[in-house]
Amino acid sequence: LTQSNNAEIGVADLRRDYRQRFLNESQIHADPFVQFANWLAEAITAEVMEPNAMSLATVDAAGQPTVRIVLLKHSDHRGLAFYTNYQSRKAAELAGNPRAAVAFWWPELERSVRVEGTTIKTDPSESDAYFARRPFASQIGAVASDQSRPVENRSILEARFDELRAAHPGQSIPRPENWGGYRIVPHRFEFWQGRQSRLHDRIEYLREGDRWVIRRLQP
Ligand SMILES: Cc1cc2nc3c(=O)[nH]c(=O)nc-3n(C[C@H](O)[C@H](O)[C@H](O)COP(=O)(O)O)c2cc1C
Repeated sequence: LTQSNNAEIGVADLRRDYRQRFLNESQIHADPFVQFANWLAEAITAEVMEPNAMSLATVDAAGQPTVRIVLLKHSDHRGLAFYTNYQSRKAAELAGNPRAAVAFWWPELERSVRVEGTTIKTDPSESDAYFARRPFASQIGAVASDQSRPVENRSILEARFDELRAAHPGQSIPRPENWGGYRIVPHRFEFWQGRQSRLHDRIEYLREGDRWVIRRLQP
């Protein structure tokens, strides 16, 4: 492997014009959850790689935003659910401040969706049901990792994985207490469609009382 000492790569002139599609007020659904479901379905059909991957932003006690990618696992009128370790850095941040935001980027469709809301833990029964659906090796992997904590080296992790697998030969294991879901209950959605000359389409849904107010935003 050749290593370079270059800290700078010229990206300033990388740019693309988006011209595939448009988004207007007459196409969108009045219900942002349905609008989101429609766009997610189109991303799946378009064979976007990891269409359910979303950048999840949380905020720590100092007000420092942090962001990482997680996988959306359920989406309905209750909100957007993902699964993680309840002792991870993101979990600690959500315990201190339940506000979170996510962004999806679907390059093949030149689309992005942003969602903001408040996070609650999913019901234990829902986390149990999803954990049971995961492949056995992923179940073991979840138990083997104290997510977000330092580890001396990789072999410690692999040894823990092998031990756990040997202790539960070929079966399913119950969900550990420190693993489960969160649901983002949204109060804002934004649907972004890339357009030509940076005149992109942006449609915002803001929760006001018991209704969603829809507005077009400037790009
Ligand atoms: C495509 C992709 C999907 C991921 N999905 C998840 C996920 O669903 N849950 C999760 O805990 N981490 C997931 N990760 C790992 C997270 O990005 C992150 O490394 C981990 O959750 C630790 O974050 P934290 O230390 O901020 O808590 C995923 C990473 C990538 C690149």
